[in-house]
Amino acid sequence: MRRMAELLLQWYDLNKRDLPWRNDPSPYQTWVSEIMLQQTRVEAVRGHYLRFMQELPDIKALAEASEDQYMKLWEGLGYYSRVRNLHKAAVDIMENHDGRMPESSEELIKLSGIGPYTSAAIASIAFGEKVPAVDGNLLRIFARICFYDENIKTDAAKKAAEEYFLQLMGGGENGRAGDLNQALMDLGAGVCLPNSTPLCGKCPWASFCEAHRRGKEMELPVMPEKKARKKEKYTVFVIWHEGRAALRKRPAKGLLAGLYEFPNTEGHLDENAALGYVQTLGFHPLRIRRLPEGRHIFTHKEWEMIGYEIFADELREAPEGRSKEEIFMAAPEEIKDTYSVPSAFAIYQEYVR
Ligand code: ADE
Repeated sequence: MRRMAELLLQWYDLNKRDLPWRNDPSPYQTWVSEIMLQQTRVEAVRGHYLRFMQELPDIKALAEASEDQYMKLWEGLGYYSRVRNLHKAAVDIMENHDGRMPESSEELIKLSGIGPYTSAAIASIAFGEKVPAVDGNLLRIFARICFYDENIKTDAAKKAAEEYFLQLMGGGENGRAGDLNQALMDLGAGVCLPNSTPLCGKCPWASFCEAHRRGKEMELPVMPEKKARKKEKYTVFVIWHEGRAALRKRPAKGLLAGLYEFPNTEGHLDENAALGYVQTLGFHPLRIRRLPEGRHIFTHKEWEMIGYEIFADELREAPEGRSKEEIFMAAPEEIKDTYSVPSAFAIYQEYVR
């Protein structure tokens, strides 16, 4: 294990990815980057991270930020509950921890939005605690190295991987626990690849890997069968009136809660039905044009969208009980800079740029 740790760190020192949150980060920077990196690719995070740090450089700034501000900074990253929890935890740290990040994984995990993986990542990277940050990458590496050929998505598999990597971190004083975790993340992202041939020729651990020895690296890890995502159909409207487009705020609970969206309704409406729907919103449509179809894949569902661009004359009073009050008109610059529209609507947002 000691030899494996040495080889991995040597490999990391030569091959580590140059990422903005790796340049002498503060605990706050490590925290924000790890939250962004949950469920989001490194390349998508890079720019968002830099902008976030520029606008909200420390815990205090985040705690004092408005909802619209931090939601806007998160636009494009998805899974917005992450930034709500980040903000909530920042307020908690200001109020209950003297404005300083707690320093152990045990304390970190008590904060909103920080689970076992993230508490381990922050504690090891920012504070040197020897605790493995086990995510899908580490599970895959573990399964291949140890030829773990049972379902990888179980608590038992996770526990076995944690114990294995804990040994790797060793009992010595001067371990590089944060670097070991990040080396494993990079190994998983660049060498021990999922769904395609892993690059065993480049792997510092190839000679220790049981799956490689047996030529079975492609068969591991063993994944449970995936359930098909539920498909939902929507019709989305980009409605113009006097150079502004219609927006509305989504409900405070549920999918994409509190974000802004183009008016839309369930089902795929033909032109006549679309014109009828737009009238129920209080618009008097003059011209209608079909927009491209869109698709957005969430974790458990998939949206299949069709769209229309509508040019509307004066706003009419909406019939009783309709949601007219939630709809407002926004200038293209406001839609770009102020209101956070989730990337599920990206294809339609192009039409208001
Ligand atoms: N994924 C999650 N955390 C990461 C990190 N610190 N470096 C690279 N990829 C990551």
